[in-house]
Amino acid sequence: MSSRRDFLLKMSLLGLAAGGPGRLVTPAQAAGAKPAGALRLAHLTDIHIDDNPVARKGLAHCLRAAREAGATAILNTGDSFRKLDGSTLAQVQPMWRAWTEVTRDCPLPIHSCLGNHDLWTPPQADAASHAGHPGLGQGGRTEAMRVLGMPAAWHAVRVGGWRFLMCDSISGEKRYAFGAEQLAWIERELAGLGEGEHAALCCHVPIQSPGAWMWMVNRSAPEKWTFPYGDLQRDLREVTDLLRRFPRARAVLSGHIHYVDAVDYLGVRHLNSGAVSGNWWKGDGVLDRDFPPAFAIVDFHPDGRVERQMVTYAL
Ligand SMILES: [Fe+2]
Repeated sequence: MSSRRDFLLKMSLLGLAAGGPGRLVTPAQAAGAKPAGALRLAHLTDIHIDDNPVARKGLAHCLRAAREAGATAILNTGDSFRKLDGSTLAQVQPMWRAWTEVTRDCPLPIHSCLGNHDLWTPPQADAASHAGHPGLGQGGRTEAMRVLGMPAAWHAVRVGGWRFLMCDSISGEKRYAFGAEQLAWIERELAGLGEGEHAALCCHVPIQSPGAWMWMVNRSAPEKWTFPYGDLQRDLREVTDLLRRFPRARAVLSGHIHYVDAVDYLGVRHLNSGAVSGNWWKGDGVLDRDFPPAFAIVDFHPDGRVERQMVTYAL
């Protein structure tokens, strides 16, 4: 059995085993549970595309499943590429090319923000030979933003009665944070919401996530546990204060950890939606026993309610 077929068979079995309320549903099941009047979007995160058949076909399947599930657009919260940080030009070019080729025929608009692995930094030893490459502009963002079709490192998208703030988790001085300039922009966008318009913030690194803690629990002894600095946004206090001032800011969509969780905190629904790549496309695809490749179908209601189903795409 080819590794590709083997991967999909395991995925199918996992998908079936995980079916049911609160777990993964098929695209057809998601399509059958579409509430009337809601804006339905797909939330894809941590795709980690690479120039290999498993990743290419996996993303192609996922994009098709998003359409089958009834999404009208895609929100992509970053880590679109396997790993641009610490990679040479010869290594990053196939990743950029794979994204362009696989997404070319997708009829749904894809709105993206950047993840930590989407910022290109060549290896220390090769830095001199890459100096001046235009793709390294804006802190390694320029080529990734061009390939992803992003108008700016942070930008707003209006769909239906909703405004999606596509944020940059890596723009602050500390790792990871929005920084003062972006927080001021978020505030202006929320202050400028139109009559009846609601907002969701999309970013790579979560603001609230039990998954961030479980990642640590799964990897270290209790006496080593500390604040999960690498897996939560550091300016979460400032962001929380900001969101509280604007009751029509109703959700935060994020990724980064490749775990699935949902938190309601002070009226805001924080949805961390796993990873399209699961365990970075490795092995049977399942991360830490619990998280196979998946994406989210999110229904945004006119009254501000937000509902999510996690969907398996490999059946
Ligand atoms: Fe990732």
